[in-house]
Amino acid sequence: MEGMEGRKPRLIVKAGRPLCGFLQIEAAKNAILPLMAAALLADGKLKLRRVPPLQDVLTMGRVLTSLGAGFGLTDQAAELEAGNLMGEEPPYELVRAMRASFLVMAPLVTRLGRAVLALPGGCAIGNRPVALHLKGMEALGAKVTWGNGKVSVEASKLMGNRIYLDYPSVGATETLLLAACTARGETWLDNAAEEPEVVDLANCLNLMGAHIQGAGTKMIRIEGVRWLQGTTHTPIPDRIEAGTYLIAACLTGGEVTLENVIPEHLHALSAKLQQAGAQVESSEGRIRVRASRPLNGLEVVTMPYPGFPTDLQAPLFALLALARGTSVVSETVFENRYLHVGELRRMGAQIRVEGRAATICGVESLSGAPVRAPDLRAAAALVLAGLRAEGETEVTGLEHLERGYYRLEEKLVRLGADIRREE
Ligand code: EPZ
Repeated sequence: MEGMEGRKPRLIVKAGRPLCGFLQIEAAKNAILPLMAAALLADGKLKLRRVPPLQDVLTMGRVLTSLGAGFGLTDQAAELEAGNLMGEEPPYELVRAMRASFLVMAPLVTRLGRAVLALPGGCAIGNRPVALHLKGMEALGAKVTWGNGKVSVEASKLMGNRIYLDYPSVGATETLLLAACTARGETWLDNAAEEPEVVDLANCLNLMGAHIQGAGTKMIRIEGVRWLQGTTHTPIPDRIEAGTYLIAACLTGGEVTLENVIPEHLHALSAKLQQAGAQVESSEGRIRVRASRPLNGLEVVTMPYPGFPTDLQAPLFALLALARGTSVVSETVFENRYLHVGELRRMGAQIRVEGRAATICGVESLSGAPVRAPDLRAAAALVLAGLRAEGETEVTGLEHLERGYYRLEEKLVRLGADIRREE
């Protein structure tokens, strides 16, 4: 018997009845993180509503406070202010732990003239460089130098410019929005990311006094302003959390209604679930999904928004592993985002990976097994697979899950799932 001190928190998941009921969706982690970085640009407080105390939110809070900024989170209301910002280098271990920490770079260069950051790590889903962020900063007049695993970015005053992004990187688009909104003159971002989280950041920056047009399209124009003030903003709902629950409802043959969602942000997934044979109905702020199992296999290619989101690729594998027939998935956004496949195979899933393509042959049922989550979205995929596996599935690696899902197991239990947490 392993010593108690060696036991890690785990979820014990058992197959049960179809998920049914209603669920409120939280505000989006991937909108909140860049918004927290934007607070460093404001003279005054930035207040964010409906902020769940996710691990990544708390990590970003620690990054900000390590720089001298103010961060408080009570009852899901976050208050942030640049305050007496004095540090130009967030702690190495925080930047390594969470790639989104890199988003403080542009505000630091704007406020202090300099930022020094370790090259980010983040999840295990690929080397995820930041060359597009840095190339864009150089285009705005910053001087970028590298040395012993760190990068230093300096500029006395950023100057607007026309920037073409070789890839519509979400983070690079957000970095350059943050940098350009108080740069001198006009900046054009060409081939920009169109993700809803980019639009939310631009909307909030405009509430703070920025002049940004075209967010949500491939061409964004930013007219630099002298300063930004604080504001209060409610981040958009989390389309990835929502998509995860829609997939869970379908793979259990249930009927679930999600509230506080923006259906348009889930068009790609909704279309795929309908192709698989589920009924999906949406109205203002709501999506309802109903599925009688088993669903049909699919062909899916992950793409930048509005294409199928890479963050829902792993959760979808749990559904495709149990679908009728063969599915083919191509992961075009990250070069190593199949870490969940090995663990799903241990549960009996029939999956073959060749490069960026995965072929999944649906099986009647999976078998419960002790599995360890290797990253955030893989963790969700393993819990979802356990909902349709015979016997018990013990999921560890919950530190990954808690980065991006608030009370996932409680919400699934509320919908009828058989999950218990053991410390
Ligand atoms: C954001 O990451 C999200 N994170 C990711 O969600 C999401 O998977 C990703 O966008 C794609 O939608 C946050 O918003 C905090 P990218 P980001 O820059 O900004 C390459 C989750 O599960 N690239 O669009 O890092 C990169 O290597 C997380 O919530 C460069 O090569 O994504 C990757 O292959 C995971 N050079 C691709 O582009 C660069 O300078 C997409 O990266 C930047 C990116």
